Amino acid sequence: MNKQKRTPVIAGNWKMNKTPAETFAFINEVKPLVADADCKVVFCVPFVDLAPAIEAAKGSNIAIGAQNCHFEKSGAFTGEISAEMLKSMDVEYVIIGHSERRQYFAETNETVNKRTRAALAEGLKVILCVGETLAEREAGITSEIVSMQLKVALNGISADELENIIIAYEPVWAIGTGKTATSDQAEEVCAILRNLVKELYSENEAEKIVIQYGGSMNAGNADELLSKPDVDGGLIGGASLKSNDFSIIVKAASK
Ligand code: PGA
Repeated sequence: MNKQKRTPVIAGNWKMNKTPAETFAFINEVKPLVADADCKVVFCVPFVDLAPAIEAAKGSNIAIGAQNCHFEKSGAFTGEISAEMLKSMDVEYVIIGHSERRQYFAETNETVNKRTRAALAEGLKVILCVGETLAEREAGITSEIVSMQLKVALNGISADELENIIIAYEPVWAIGTGKTATSDQAEEVCAILRNLVKELYSENEAEKIVIQYGGSMNAGNADELLSKPDVDGGLIGGASLKSNDFSIIVKAASK
């Protein structure tokens, strides 16, 4: 399948980092560094940082995303934010099903599916995360785990809606650990996921869908990871908090 048909997406996932004032300053600092990017550039920031991020990114090639949303439109869900709320403030992207949400906040494949559907219904673009733990990799069930995660997450989602989904393959053992998957490991799983999209939808959808790798991607290893035929971008945690490192990854994706 032809990688050239897809535009790479480099997305920063700030997790619980940076205040609103730091956000405004950072986006202004990174703007000129990524201005000539030949890929999509996204920062997924904490909820309170969305407004200053959007303000600072105005008129630039940087899109702003959130890191989660609830599946109900409104109601008694203390501490939650709805997809409609995000859309109303011009947020473009939302990360759904990050492994930290699954691990610390009891996110399941079913709630990932519900959140994804709610986000798509509001017209948000979803960065949908899947990935195996170290124990699952060592047990030889990586393919089964990520396939199940993706299958359930995409349940009830049409081919048209799929155009607003980016898949992020993030092996849990590589997140924030400095242990990156080798480019061959990343390619192997990204290819499995693309093949599953082909089975569930069509060859055309499989060829179009952007699949990112995430997990300790940095300025030093991005080139090699992004050179793989099924790796179309990255979801970047730690390295997205530093403007220079992030811009080097954006350059690697722009080649
Ligand atoms: P990391 O995080 O780059 O710090 O490993 C990636 C992620 O969790 O999205």
